[in-house]
Amino acid sequence: MKISQALSVTLHDYMPRAGDMRSEILGGLAASPKILRPKYFYDERGSKLFDAICELPEYYLTRTELGIMEASAADMANVLGARVLLVEPGSGTSMKTRLLLDKLHWPCAYVPVDISREHLIAAADRMNRYYPALEVLPVCADFSQSFALPAPRLPAARTVVYFPGSTIGNFEPAAAVALLKQLQQLAGRKGALLIGVDLNKDRGVLEAAYNDAAGVTAAFNLNLLTRLNRELNGNFKLERFQHRAPYNQAEGRIEMHLISLDDQTVHIAGETVRFGAGEAIVTEYSYKHTLPGFTALAAQAGWSVRKVWTDERRWFSVQYLTAG
Ligand code: AVJ
Repeated sequence: MKISQALSVTLHDYMPRAGDMRSEILGGLAASPKILRPKYFYDERGSKLFDAICELPEYYLTRTELGIMEASAADMANVLGARVLLVEPGSGTSMKTRLLLDKLHWPCAYVPVDISREHLIAAADRMNRYYPALEVLPVCADFSQSFALPAPRLPAARTVVYFPGSTIGNFEPAAAVALLKQLQQLAGRKGALLIGVDLNKDRGVLEAAYNDAAGVTAAFNLNLLTRLNRELNGNFKLERFQHRAPYNQAEGRIEMHLISLDDQTVHIAGETVRFGAGEAIVTEYSYKHTLPGFTALAAQAGWSVRKVWTDERRWFSVQYLTAG
């Protein structure tokens, strides 16, 4: 691990090396069907495009979750209790976190965890300025791998993992259970989880959210190929791939695909990858849970759902879970 002093905060760095990305990407492109992990969307441009997605009229998730936080953060703070160590895996811009922190009773420290070092440092620095009295301990890590929590200066009453944004939706059931178990390790015995979970709904609403009229989601999806061209010396021709995002009702998930428009050969990281016309790369799953379905999934990881906040259309939920 590397610790470095940057701006006003100390960064704890557990980032995987570039070689891990190369082998994971090549492995995914050799698989059938071809698959890439959504965490690779978030280079600098990808992170900006994602922020733009959150503002789209069709993308209801962010707006709905913010509404739930605005209405219920005070209630959530009462449930979480005083002197919490708040850990946020995949913290991004930390927008929703401010709504929560504004209501928390004497939080002892905030630990944002993010894969994008630049985003993380900027967000940690911002939080440090918004909350001068709060200790901010950023960790640069892939939260799906295990990492150690930095020790806060003040003793914490309990650790609460805040996992908003329906990031859990990116994980297939078995992987979601594994991640939820890992978050429980992180939170410890008296710990808790406050998690944003997108809910199952009408296909038309779902498909519009991932196939926006302005084409921002298509640009976000295709930017993955731009990144591979740049970082892994690839030669994907972007105009020969097309964004698709159908809802798979049987699996309860939106599937983001990049469809090869013709038979073609691509070179990447010194390897050759062949595509048939119409062949897909799966770039993301976004699961849409039911309330009982998520309760059962969490139970497999040893979590009990104690309280659920939702919007009046029941499109999105924020859920409070404790161990056991
Ligand atoms: C960040 C995983 C919640 O699944 O809706 C948005 C990412 N992908 N549009 C989601 C995403 C395409 C998003 N999550």
